[in-house]
Amino acid sequence: MVVLRISLFFLVTLSFIADHVFAGITRHYKFDIKLQNVTRLCHTKSIVTVNGQFPGPPIVAREGDRLLIKVVNHVQNNISIHWHGIRQLQTGWADGPAYVTQCPIQTGQSYVYNYTVVGQRGTLFWHAHISWLRSTVYGPIIILPKLGIPYPFTKPHKEVPIIFGEWWNADPEAVISQALQTGGGPNVSDAYTLNGLPGPLYNCSAKDTFKLKVKPGKTYLLRLINAALNDELFFSIANHTLKVVDVDAVYVKPFETDTILIAPGQTTNVLLKTQSQFPNATFFMTARPYVTGLGTFDNSTVAGILEYEFPSKTPHSTLPIKKLQLFKPILPALNDTSFATKFTNKLRSLANAQFPANVPQKIDKRFFFTVGLGTSPCQHNKTCQGPNGTMFAASVNNVSFALPNTALLQAHFFGQSNGVYSPNFPTSPIIPFNYTGNPPNNTMVGNGTKLVVLPFNTSVELVMQDTSILGAESHPLHLHGFNFFVVGQGFGNFDPNNDPPNFNLVDPVERNTVGVPSGGWVAIRFLADNPGVWFMHCHLEIHTSWGLKMAWLVLDGKLPNQKLLPPPADLPKC
Ligand code: C2O
Repeated sequence: MVVLRISLFFLVTLSFIADHVFAGITRHYKFDIKLQNVTRLCHTKSIVTVNGQFPGPPIVAREGDRLLIKVVNHVQNNISIHWHGIRQLQTGWADGPAYVTQCPIQTGQSYVYNYTVVGQRGTLFWHAHISWLRSTVYGPIIILPKLGIPYPFTKPHKEVPIIFGEWWNADPEAVISQALQTGGGPNVSDAYTLNGLPGPLYNCSAKDTFKLKVKPGKTYLLRLINAALNDELFFSIANHTLKVVDVDAVYVKPFETDTILIAPGQTTNVLLKTQSQFPNATFFMTARPYVTGLGTFDNSTVAGILEYEFPSKTPHSTLPIKKLQLFKPILPALNDTSFATKFTNKLRSLANAQFPANVPQKIDKRFFFTVGLGTSPCQHNKTCQGPNGTMFAASVNNVSFALPNTALLQAHFFGQSNGVYSPNFPTSPIIPFNYTGNPPNNTMVGNGTKLVVLPFNTSVELVMQDTSILGAESHPLHLHGFNFFVVGQGFGNFDPNNDPPNFNLVDPVERNTVGVPSGGWVAIRFLADNPGVWFMHCHLEIHTSWGLKMAWLVLDGKLPNQKLLPPPADLPKC
């Protein structure tokens, strides 16, 4: 008995040491995809959720940990989950976009997502990656630094995730399917939400208000996540300053601001320092959209409340919270592009010895992609509800991407790409035009499932150019499988001679989602050191639905740790 105890103790200790010294630990989660009745704005509806929770449960891990997340599908819809921003080194099978890295998990089936968090710390999020199911299927990913490694900023008293979303009284699946049938713009959401709550500025909603309760004189780390489908958002807290310290799970040079701008797919960690004394007031925190396009949008405002705890000597009855003065923040105008530009220009990598900015300095391959809207012909000789009776479409280099009925990664891995995809995605527009001038007469897009093929370790520079076709618009472009450095941006047409000399190759911000400025361009660089098929798309879901998406195929390298791992046995079949 004694021997057994000692050896058990020994085993436990040994594995503890192994976990904490040599690598991270393994954390297990179970995601049951199931329906749940939820009421907001006096509308009750049955929504697809994870474990009946809305928003879904947070995934918490430390840098270096392995995650095993079993997803079981109990609903009628096909499902897949994407771990947005996780690098997925060699584990592309666990990335999640349906028909890109996996077939969806069908009703009654399950799939274990298995991956390790490497070289990232901060906030990311997970969301459904099929159709518009991410409107209700999303939640935070919180990546803590390795044990014993401090934050490069004041240790917060508390950490609070705040996830922005959109609430639809209608079923978003019906909204997108109708839009794709008629060719017109989709209906818009009825409210924005903070942690699933629309707050007091909407009808029948005051009881569904997010409250952040704080103590005076403390620092709080707010982990802000934009999980909205179709809207970039401004966010501000009345009478308080926010210090930005991390975006997309990469530390940045801290800077202070009253308002932040956050696009769908982006995350921002901010420090909130509370006032030193009980302020005798409460404060709204509000978010509303930043909009540049011509379509209709949800122009409403979500509010939550920042509430200070009463000093302990105050009897509660004498000072009810409701009687306190309420301050409201002033947000930029809905179309304040100059704020957007100033804000994004402040984002810089830490770029120090501990957290270097490994910006590719020598480029192997350059790409120039136009991103924007377009049209496709109305089918069956009908009149459609898009521009001039056509259907709305969107494209990259005029290719409106069509998802296959099988998964691209499988097709590649098993050498069955014939008839699934072609490796000839255009490296620049086939027909150049004045991208931000008067739009061309012909706005029809082409269709296809085309990939860019990159040898392992190719260093890539990609300029993404917005077009003015059907209106210039800011497009938050998200790249799976990589972080990239945002080395330059500007308005008008990119100038290949005069713009590159101004690129920041020293401390550009490193992230996974970047806004292509409305009527402008952005230049990014990344090293293709992760073999697999990697989706890139606008994170405005309607634009993705219309085809503003493409994929990169990064080939295996020579060494064993430069190869895509074999597919897991339970990988879903189409
Ligand atoms: Cu958050 Cu492909 O998406």
